[in-house]
Amino acid sequence: MQSPRPAAKVPAPRIATSEGPTLPQDSLSALTWLVEAGADEAMGEVAVDRFAARKAPTNPPLEGGSKNAEHFSGRGQAPVTEFRPSPKPAVRVSTLPQGEGSDSIGDAIALARAATSLPELKSALESFDGCALKRSATTTVFADGNPLSRILFIGEAPGRDEDRQGLPFVGRAGKLLDKMLAAINLDRSSAYITNVLNWRPPDNREPSPEEAALCLPFLRRHIELVDPLVMILLGGTSVRHVMGRSDGIMKTRGRWLEYNAADRMVPVMPTLHPAYLLRQPAHKKLAWRDLLAVEQKIISQRALEQSAGGS
Ligand code: URA
Repeated sequence: MQSPRPAAKVPAPRIATSEGPTLPQDSLSALTWLVEAGADEAMGEVAVDRFAARKAPTNPPLEGGSKNAEHFSGRGQAPVTEFRPSPKPAVRVSTLPQGEGSDSIGDAIALARAATSLPELKSALESFDGCALKRSATTTVFADGNPLSRILFIGEAPGRDEDRQGLPFVGRAGKLLDKMLAAINLDRSSAYITNVLNWRPPDNREPSPEEAALCLPFLRRHIELVDPLVMILLGGTSVRHVMGRSDGIMKTRGRWLEYNAADRMVPVMPTLHPAYLLRQPAHKKLAWRDLLAVEQKIISQRALEQSAGGS
C-alpha cells in the first residue's frame, strides 16, 4: 500500500494579482508550488494571462446563441463555444435632451423597428419623447378597430375629441367616417384606423414636415405589423406623408397607388377626408365612388390570398 505523500512545505509564491502589476516572485518556488498542487503538465504552448483575460472588456453578445459565448477547453485547443440564449437587444436611443443635438428621427426608427407586435409598438410610441407635439397633447392616439381585418384607414392627426379620448376619428369627422365605412359594409370591428400623427397639433393646425417625419417611422412599422390587404388614405396630408405625393387630393383620389410594406405591395386608395366632406358635402359622391372601388378591391385581394394559400 502506498503511504500518503507528506505534504510538501512550499512557500506560497508571490504572484500577479488582479489589482495591478506583477509582484516580484521566485519563479522556481512558483513552479514547485504548482507541481505540488497537481498542476504538473503543460496545457498549451503559450501561457495564458488569466488576470488580463478577466479584465478585458467583454464583447456584446451576438445574436444566435451558439456563437455568443466562448471559453477555453484547455490543452492548447481552439476556443469552443457553448450555448447561452441571447437576451433581446436593448434599443439604443440618444442620450442628449431633445433639441440639444439628439437624433430623434434615429431614435424613432430604432424604437419602431424593435417593436414586434402592435402592443409593443404602442408602448414604444408612448415612451418616445422626440416629438414636441407630445408635450401639448393630452394623450397618444394609436389606433382603433380590428387590425386582423387588414383593411387599414389612415387619417391625418387627432383633433380635440380624439386627443381627449385617445382614439382616432371619434369626433364629427369620425361619425361621418363611420357612415362611410357602413356604406361598404364595414365598421370598427371589420376595419382598422390610425393617423399619420399620433399627437394633436395645437389648434388642429397642419402638421409640419418635421413632426410628420418623427411619426413616420412608427407609422411605417404600424403598417408592416398590420400587413394590410388594402389601405385607404384619408385626405391630401395623409397621401403626402405616406406616399410622398404632393399633387393634391383632387388629382390623386380615386386612383390606385401601391405602397411597399416590407416588400409586399399593398394597393392604396386615396380619397377625400371626412372633415373635408363635412365642409363640401357635394363631394360625397366622389368619396362614394372611391369606396365602391375599395369594396371591390377587398373582394379581389381576399380571393387572391385564398388562391395563393390554397395552391
Ligand atoms: N381627423 C383625422 O385625420 N384624424 C382623426 O383622428 C380625427 C380627425
